Amino acid sequence: MTPPEQPKSSDGRRGFIVKTIALICGGFSLLIPAAIGVVAFLNPLRQKSTGGDFIKLASLEVLPEDGTPRKFPVVADRTDAWNRFPDEPIGAVFLRRTAENKVEALQVVCPHAGCSVVYEASAGEKTGKFFCPCHAASFGLGGERLDKTSPSPRDMDSLDVEVRNNTEVWVKFQNFQSGAAKKIVQT
Ligand code: FES
Repeated sequence: MTPPEQPKSSDGRRGFIVKTIALICGGFSLLIPAAIGVVAFLNPLRQKSTGGDFIKLASLEVLPEDGTPRKFPVVADRTDAWNRFPDEPIGAVFLRRTAENKVEALQVVCPHAGCSVVYEASAGEKTGKFFCPCHAASFGLGGERLDKTSPSPRDMDSLDVEVRNNTEVWVKFQNFQSGAAKKIVQT
């Protein structure tokens, strides 16, 4: 009977090298996504400021009964991976009473390219309007575009409002993508 053939030493070495390379490649394929996840978690620049929560902005009695809008800064806590920054300005909102004695809230950020809209009181007209000084978009008191050729692709962005305890005006503050025809919440 002939004894089984012994593997040659060069075959054994080749097999060892192939296994080692496979192990290293496998390890890297697991390590790279894990490393990306850790970096994304720890990078404070990737953390978003506070938004999307109801924030108490004003008392009902400070809103003019004639429907004139007033601008209110939005202040909230902001956190990143390492720190908490209490009471930071994160935006602003126009509030106004409607004819039905409800409260409407509009983002001050222009939907066209993100400039701040201002309120212009009436100049000989019955009511004032909102105006964006960057590219001259005009909006009515409800935030609707006043010009068919408006540079803004949509009306001003309305925000959800709740009047609590009959006196406190709470607004769900959100930012939206500029330049889009639809309201798209920034996350
Ligand atoms: S940013 Fe407001 S009109 Fe362009």
